[in-house]
Amino acid sequence: MQLPTILLTTLGIATTAATLATTTSNPSPPATRLPLPLAPAPVPIPIPTAPKPHLKPWNLTSMRSFSPSGRPGSSPFVTLNLTIVDLNDADRLPRSALKNATLEAECDTQWSWENFDYDKDPYNRVHNCSKVDVGWWTFELFKTNASVPNPARNFLVQFEHHVKRDEVYVGVGNLSVETNVRGACGGSGVCTWYLWEGAMPVYINQARV
Ligand SMILES: *[C@@H]1O[C@H](CO)[C@@H](O)[C@H](O)[C@H]1NC(C)=O
Ligand SMILES: *[C@@H]1O[C@H](CO)[C@@H](O)[C@H](O)[C@H]1NC(C)=O
Ligand SMILES: *[C@@H]1O[C@H](CO)[C@@H](O)[C@H](O)[C@H]1NC(C)=O
Ligand SMILES: *[C@@H]1O[C@H](CO)[C@@H](O)[C@H](O)[C@H]1NC(C)=O
Ligand SMILES: *[C@@H]1O[C@H](CO)[C@@H](O)[C@H](O)[C@H]1NC(C)=O
Ligand SMILES: *[C@@H]1O[C@H](CO)[C@@H](O)[C@H](O)[C@H]1NC(C)=O
Repeated sequence: MQLPTILLTTLGIATTAATLATTTSNPSPPATRLPLPLAPAPVPIPIPTAPKPHLKPWNLTSMRSFSPSGRPGSSPFVTLNLTIVDLNDADRLPRSALKNATLEAECDTQWSWENFDYDKDPYNRVHNCSKVDVGWWTFELFKTNASVPNPARNFLVQFEHHVKRDEVYVGVGNLSVETNVRGACGGSGVCTWYLWEGAMPVYINQARV
């Protein structure tokens, strides 16, 4: 069976008779050889570039991080607070339930800055977000491939919205001081970072997995 031209084209395979023809006089490798695989992505799933037409994106409504001064007596923890809403959830609830529904998930985590290993903590750990009325959310931080990764201001965050046990969506937010994060460190060493107003709203496209 022959693959449809559209699929072959999507796979980057030439479909003209000339390139598909095999000849005994030409020893060059077949034209259909696929390119070498790309270098591994920093996240386990490809970042969706476009939402499904019927899906509204997620809205990352806030991001805030706080790093303590490190002075004796100050907190040993860096705190990160994210809040996210699935804009499709309003359509998933009956009108009567919508009025009083909790749709915004708070996704919080903390890590110690003291014995901090940038290659591990706080990356690659799945956390639960707060309870919502449509399914449940988890999130996980990943090291950014941009310059100077920092889980408090320059990081990737992969959210999962489990709408139902068998209906799960994944999306990745790219938080970066180059684009959508602003903040400052005070003379005391305390740093706070948040979504830059000029970059809001920050939407995240999701894909069903
Ligand atoms: C997304 O969140 C921002 C910040 O809360 C808000 O200003 C914006 O209206 C929201 N967008 C939608 C479509 O709800
Ligand atoms: C709204 O939700 C809260 C908390 O779940 C509950 O205490 C309250 O009774 C609800 N109000 C209505 C009008 O359903
Ligand atoms: C931020 O997250 C921490 C837990 O990591 C929590 O104790 C704190 O209440 C959160 N702050 C806000 C404003 O939600
Ligand atoms: C996250 O929530 C799920 C479902 O409620 C629960 O089974 C799991 O133990 C929680 N995980 C953590 C790390 O709290
Ligand atoms: C980071 O990853 C994105 C998405 O995979 C890619 O488009 C971008 O070129 C990468 N940037 C760098 C600096 O590697
Ligand atoms: C995240 O955004 C930064 C800044 O624009 C960019 O350099 C980087 O390639 C992006 N990474 C991904 C995985 O999209």
